[in-house]
Amino acid sequence: MRAALLGAAATLVAALALPATAQDATRGAALAAERNCAACHGAGGISAIPHMPSLAGQQADYITLQMILFREGLRQVPAMAEPARGLSDRNIEDLAAHFASLPSTPHPERGTPNPTLITRGAELSATRNCQACHLPDYSGRANVPRINHQREDFLLHSMQEYRDNQRVGADTQMNGLLHGLTNPDLTAIAHYLAQRP
Ligand code: HEC
Ligand code: HEC
Repeated sequence: MRAALLGAAATLVAALALPATAQDATRGAALAAERNCAACHGAGGISAIPHMPSLAGQQADYITLQMILFREGLRQVPAMAEPARGLSDRNIEDLAAHFASLPSTPHPERGTPNPTLITRGAELSATRNCQACHLPDYSGRANVPRINHQREDFLLHSMQEYRDNQRVGADTQMNGLLHGLTNPDLTAIAHYLAQRP
């Protein structure tokens, strides 16, 4: 059942992959204001709350797919149940176009760079080939999310959830990829990514 629904969600996203227009983004901005996404995800899509993801500049296909997973109760985050309730696929695409169009920069709360952690994080990222999917600048592509410009605490939290099989996405690649990494390893990766330009 779960696999079938996830398959359906992935097919839907593939089918919906029309190029976003400025009109979509404008409709998405109005809907985001109506549903108050900024209360949690921050003004301009830049999160000011610990463990809360920024959405600015996130890949539109990734946002679309995650919103479908939230709407269908397949990615279970209680706080996202209400914001996703009753949205049409079209609404979701508009929201995705809006957030994808917002400019992103390294997160303002990223703190001072720690060279030891950065070196360790870069090594682990190279060994595990993170850039193969997330791209060399970590900006992501299609359903692979941007993982630079993100809050460090959210990156750590989401990697721990994948590793511990508490978050199972539309594909389970991330769960296997982080298998065997310790909390200090993930801390180093999160720090390295959060410091990327
Ligand atoms: C009450 C707070 C709250 C509101 C309002 C809210 N969200 Fe969220 N959102 C969350 C939380 C919490 C998470 C997930 C954090 C986690 O995975 O632990 C999340 C995750 C997401 C994600 C996945 C991001 C990622 O990087 O994986 C998307 C996309 C998203 N929200 C979009 C929206 C949109 C669009 C709206 C408005 C329609 C919205 N959210 C409103 C709390 C909120
Ligand atoms: C084979 C392709 C692939 C590789 C290699 C890969 N990822 Fe991912 N990653 C994905 C996909 C696809 C998702 C979205 C999965 C989902 O739907 O939850 C993702 C999601 C993530 C997220 C969640 C972001 C968010 O906003 O919630 C983080 C963090 C992440 N990856 C970090 C990494 C790191 C660090 C590495 C290297 C250790 C890595 N990834 C390697 C494909 C990949």
